Amino acid sequence: MGTRGARPAASMTSLKDAIAATRERLAAHGQEHLLRFVGELDESRARAVLAQCDGLPLDLLAREMPTILGTAQADSTHARIEPVDVIPAHPEGWIEFAAAGEALLRAGKVACFTVAGGQGTRLGWDAPKGTFPASPVTERSLFQIFAEGILGLRKRYGAALDWIVMTSPQNDAPTREFFGAHGSWGLAPGTVRFIVQGTMPALDRRGKILLSDRGELATNPDGHGGSIRALAESGELARLRKQGVEHLSYFQVDNPLVHPAEPLFLGLHATHPSSGGQMSSRSVARRSASEKVGVFCQRAGRVGIIEYSDMPPELAAAVLDDGRLLHSAGNIAVHALSIGFIERLTHGGFALPFHVARKRVPCLDADGVLQVPAEPNGLKLETFIFDALPLADRPIVVDSCRDDWYAPIKNADGGDSPTTSKAAQVARAARWLGACGVSVPRDQDGAVDAVIEIDPALALSVDDLRAAFASGRADAPQSLGQGSRTLLSGH
Ligand code: UTP
Repeated sequence: MGTRGARPAASMTSLKDAIAATRERLAAHGQEHLLRFVGELDESRARAVLAQCDGLPLDLLAREMPTILGTAQADSTHARIEPVDVIPAHPEGWIEFAAAGEALLRAGKVACFTVAGGQGTRLGWDAPKGTFPASPVTERSLFQIFAEGILGLRKRYGAALDWIVMTSPQNDAPTREFFGAHGSWGLAPGTVRFIVQGTMPALDRRGKILLSDRGELATNPDGHGGSIRALAESGELARLRKQGVEHLSYFQVDNPLVHPAEPLFLGLHATHPSSGGQMSSRSVARRSASEKVGVFCQRAGRVGIIEYSDMPPELAAAVLDDGRLLHSAGNIAVHALSIGFIERLTHGGFALPFHVARKRVPCLDADGVLQVPAEPNGLKLETFIFDALPLADRPIVVDSCRDDWYAPIKNADGGDSPTTSKAAQVARAARWLGACGVSVPRDQDGAVDAVIEIDPALALSVDDLRAAFASGRADAPQSLGQGSRTLLSGH
């Protein structure tokens, strides 16, 4: 829906005729119940719900319905799931690849791309997730952390490095307001741009589309895979091409440790002999067979990712002779994508497969009364960016040090929460400072006994920090006090 090119009910057509035409189209797909209450609406609300119905991808839904409802033939390709080759974090000759990535940045051939359209239901933050205060000392928001990292990179490489942020219809306005209220943290107007992803209708368990109101369908953002279509349909892809951008550095809004555009990764993606230069990914070693991260693998000879919930348990737990997991590469949702690849994907009838999640969807019952279910009652359809991997020419997967790269904020508490993420940010800062010769206080168990934050504009890696101290852009503290709070930024 959303960006899917709705066929608007022509205002020239009488409302009665427009309703009849839409009802006929819906009836052909067993969805005519969506107009059950249309007669009670005033003309503008009636036309709005007609437009929403006319924008539904009904043919696509019909084609995919057996898979969506779980009545399709079970996937029998599991037998052919094999481990993926992973390039070590610091491959032979990595300086050469880092230099290639730096050259791309300097030449303005890279843009950053953040997917921030998710609903963030697990975190339960009453605003777009990117506005969440995520850093340990200053409580910078996730958006601010990325913005300042990008600012630092722009200065370092004298690069354009535009930033594209994908929102959803549900969170677009508050996201823009947040950037506006903070002056985009110094990023020049026009160099941060927003695109809005499409939506998908929510279904009941029989595949009937749900109504959230008498004049409104229940919808959800169409998944981070919707970013491919949104880039093309918003015109952003064409704009980037015109600007001379060749690659997107893709990352999620929930991971404050991510490097917004790492030269080494970009250089490997664009110039490593094993890489087709179309889509590349970073991975981390999975912590255990039950860790909830997608798993890189090869299926029928193509690189892809299997969601943890879809991974056959015996494969998830399979180990090598030395006890390491056979399928060890976990997905951290950091990718590089070439503009040419996205152009190829979006040329013609492109569609990524749907993933189905059972969710609680507030909806109207047959009498038009709003029901707020306590248990999952609906099916949410999403597409995932990583399903583009098997479509790419020779995708590479580059190993990453988890402690440097990945500490997402997914849940309100427990694992992958603000608490664990802040601890990981502090631990990383302490490690980097230690590597630069600064003494960091630790408790009896060896845990860091201080709260430390490094300004992302100053350093995005230990090498950046070393260079900042060496050049005098920042002063290395001699030592930090037990229990102290330190923000390290440049002059
Ligand atoms: P998640 O899978 O963690 O989903 O998104 P979520 O919607 O943020 O959170 P929950 O599951 O409701 O708790 C991973 C990344 O993909 C983006 C999110 O904003 C996040 O950066 N995303 C997800 C989108 O941009 N659009 C979507 O439709 C879904």
